[in-house]
Amino acid sequence: MKATSATPSTSAPVAHNALPPPSATSNARSSRIAPHSHIKGLGLTSDGLAAPDGAGFIGQTNAREACGVVVDLVKSRKFSGRALLLVGAPGTGKTALALAVSHELGTKVPFCPMVGSEVYSTEVKKTEVLAESFRRAIGLRIKETKEVYEGEVTELTPAESENPLSRYGKTVSHVIVGLKTVKGTKQLRLDPTIYEAILKEKIVVGDVIYVEANTGAVKRVGRSDAYASSYDLESETYVPLPKGDVHKRKELVQDVTLGDLDAANARPQGGQDIMSVMGSLVKSGRTEVTDKLRREVNKVVKGYVDQGVAEVVPGVVFIDEVHMLDIECFTYLNALLESPMAPTVILATNRGNALVRGTTDIVSPHGVPVDLLDRCLIVKTDGYNREQIGKVVQLRANVEGLKLGSGVLERIAEEGERGSMRYALQLLTPASILAGLSGRNQIEVEDIGEMNELFLDAKTSATNIGADGGFDGGKMW
Ligand SMILES: Nc1ncnc2c1ncn2[C@@H]1O[C@H](COP(=O)(O)OP(=O)(O)O)[C@@H](O)[C@H]1O
Ligand SMILES: [Mg+2]
Repeated sequence: MKATSATPSTSAPVAHNALPPPSATSNARSSRIAPHSHIKGLGLTSDGLAAPDGAGFIGQTNAREACGVVVDLVKSRKFSGRALLLVGAPGTGKTALALAVSHELGTKVPFCPMVGSEVYSTEVKKTEVLAESFRRAIGLRIKETKEVYEGEVTELTPAESENPLSRYGKTVSHVIVGLKTVKGTKQLRLDPTIYEAILKEKIVVGDVIYVEANTGAVKRVGRSDAYASSYDLESETYVPLPKGDVHKRKELVQDVTLGDLDAANARPQGGQDIMSVMGSLVKSGRTEVTDKLRREVNKVVKGYVDQGVAEVVPGVVFIDEVHMLDIECFTYLNALLESPMAPTVILATNRGNALVRGTTDIVSPHGVPVDLLDRCLIVKTDGYNREQIGKVVQLRANVEGLKLGSGVLERIAEEGERGSMRYALQLLTPASILAGLSGRNQIEVEDIGEMNELFLDAKTSATNIGADGGFDGGKMW
């Protein structure tokens, strides 16, 4: 078949309903999830028992089974007004468990992690920060049919031209993209703004992508089956070659959260329909969202749900270091738990008995007031042995594409047993840099040895200084 040159308008402005670039906050949140990318779920059998390792989770069987019960309760709508409290030492997998729970609740369920101390912002009220996190944990799935060009990328050639404004630079005038489906091929001549989107999505030849015809938004669906090979990273998703024509109508699903919609509408622009609501998603800075606005957004959303265009997807809000919240926040949290559209709430702490912040005399387990504790199911996480740490390190090394020489795993696991799971995992990246510096692509035991000369784990560091604070550096002033 002859390649035609169809052009979805060379200078298409990125229209109002193109997906927004991820905002600064959502970037920060995804980087918080990145260290847990090997966790795919709780890894439970159908009768709710935990295998020693499953879905990327090693050990921690009691806690995993307990979380499985919570997932069942949530799914059968018997968990409303309650919360899950994870208690355990740092690095024992509390955040990983919370993320696994959100995976178990379904794909694309929003997961909104925050740290208790985040409420102390000078810009926004404490309770607002909590309310916003709750809204960010409620997803909205919108279905619409759109005109797209979809296929496997066979060619990706940016055409450069002299930049009239500068004597030195060249600019991309357009980009030629070849797309292939089972049925045929097509060559598109696309606008440079789309080329930027292509670079951002890290699209290369062999990926399956689609370009929305009237907005120019580019989306990477996955890697084409034909390129699947056994040693590739397991985090890659492989998809079959699309069927039908390159140019077609396709039902697209977009996931946004109520928090996104609130933020977008805090800076009023455009109309009340959902597309302009979504179009203004590009967020800059922090704006205070009022309760009135939230009610407005709820009303619009309800309308779309009633029409069957959108579907509400309740997600998970995870509040780490919950002992950092103060009494005012706890009271508000009780109220939020009672609200009709509350997400699943997971709290975590590593404190024992502690003073409830904002009070002078109330000491309570985990620094959480008893009335909130009363609503919590409490799950404890245990420490890991050397073997378990070794397995997790190996999983992370696979995900990050790092090769480990002989004896390295044992060595890191040993370090992890002395320090913590997190310390062990954190050794990986610097060690791989050291290996790279000596021109190897495999981490060897000597890299770990060198790391130990350069850095200290917390326990060693504390021992060095000693109980009397005998740190000479301190006497300099
Ligand atoms: N049982 C486990 N199986 C696999 N990975 C784990 C396990 N426990 C912890 N991890 C990983 O170890 C690191 C530290 O765990 P994390 O959940 O952040 O601990 P916590 O929140 O309790 O301080 C994370 O990268 C996490 O994914
Ligand atoms: Mg954590």
